[in-house]
Amino acid sequence: MEQTNNYIDSNKDKFLQELIELLKIPSISADPMYAQNLLDCADAIAKNLVESGIENVEVLETKGYPVVYGEKIIDNSLPTILIYGHYDVQPPDPINLWESDPFEPTIKNTEIHPDGALFARGSADDKGQFFMHVKAVEAMINTNSLYCNVKFLIEGEEEVGSENLEDFLIEHKDKLKNDIILISDTSVLSMENPTLTTGLRGLSYLEVEVEGANRDLHSGLYGGAVPNPINILCDMIASLHDKNENVTVKDFYDKVSAITSEELKEMQKLPFDLEEYKNAIGLNDITGERGYSTLERTTIRPSLDVNGIWGGYMGEGAKTVIPSKAYAKISMRLVPNQNPNEITKLFSEHFKSIAPASIKVNVKAFHGGKPYVLPCTDKGYISAKKAMEKTFEKEVLPLRGGGSIPIVSTFEEILGTKSVLMGFGLDSDALHSPNEHFGLKNFYLGIKTIPYFFKYYSESN
Ligand code: BES
Ligand code: MN
Ligand code: MN
Repeated sequence: MEQTNNYIDSNKDKFLQELIELLKIPSISADPMYAQNLLDCADAIAKNLVESGIENVEVLETKGYPVVYGEKIIDNSLPTILIYGHYDVQPPDPINLWESDPFEPTIKNTEIHPDGALFARGSADDKGQFFMHVKAVEAMINTNSLYCNVKFLIEGEEEVGSENLEDFLIEHKDKLKNDIILISDTSVLSMENPTLTTGLRGLSYLEVEVEGANRDLHSGLYGGAVPNPINILCDMIASLHDKNENVTVKDFYDKVSAITSEELKEMQKLPFDLEEYKNAIGLNDITGERGYSTLERTTIRPSLDVNGIWGGYMGEGAKTVIPSKAYAKISMRLVPNQNPNEITKLFSEHFKSIAPASIKVNVKAFHGGKPYVLPCTDKGYISAKKAMEKTFEKEVLPLRGGGSIPIVSTFEEILGTKSVLMGFGLDSDALHSPNEHFGLKNFYLGIKTIPYFFKYYSESN
């Protein structure tokens, strides 16, 4: 292990430069204008995998953006670790709020990252994180200390719901055979209080349309006598939470399973500074479901949020009009054992049931994802905890993540294996926001932790 660590130490600059090259490629999966950049990014990763000593590297087609595959099989009697990551990124918008170009990676020091952070779209989510695995494997190969077989599956559609990956998994089930999946696409609570992500929330996402009159109407001629879809949509949305901030969608909580008292106890050991939390995002006060802490609200409890709302006149100046239609995008984060299809159906029925007779309601379902949990008794969890405790030199506690990686539950269904969510980012790294960044210390610590995972995991088998 000492040799591996030395290799990593003496290649720090090379690793960083290589990551910077990947971050320059605007691989924005949501916008078809960037399609060529996604293909270029897949090729660039494949090239890097080859140069890192990984074998049988291929850019494999899916019905959408391609998957980059590679492997290093050293001994069939050893366990096989499948590394998953995504090379697509979120759109950088609003672009004018970036202090440096989102695709010109820039190193700056921040209060939380006094040793420097790399600012670029995708730095933490997820190029910087999956790339740690590529470099850790390079270090292990070059120092003859690869303790497990390894396979890479780096996809290009995570940020748009991974809708073509399920078919890919079915088609390539044998090739992807593994004992455990290792993913760095989540966060630690802080560098002082490192955590391992033991779960992900699921997701139901939909768009609602509320329709009133068959055309926009003069708000003087008709105002006061006809339904206004925007007013009504606002009322309907407001009614989706009660005074205790519980979601009112009928039967919404029916299948929510409580966490075990041990998990709750571990969670309550975690320090959480509410003042710091509020300050970091510029709030005077917070809100949420009564009876639960902020950490509980964002991890073990489901939630419902409007992500966008529009309708009527939105141009310059005033236009007196009662719009014919109003729209909203709504997301629900789900916890075990809520099922996204069931929740979408419950929402849709509920939303129609609360609609006044004066309007018509249309609900359009988008991609979803199931929630996921990794038990703390899993060999993968235990190996990751040991690995992180080795490099962070702190106790590592379990914490579920509030975000979603929809493919993780599909991995379990199709490939039959568990995923370990050993992320190294921080929630404050501005994922999906302007000025996304990834701490250099986090990047190098991640690269050093991964070989220990390989070692401990192979020893546990
Ligand atoms: N890496 C995130 C998910 C994440 C981040 C989980 C931090 C836990 C902690 C992932 O790229 C993401 O953004 N997922 C989307 C899923 C969606 C686009 C289907 C999400 O959570 O909104
Ligand atoms: Mn991600
Ligand atoms: Mn993301």
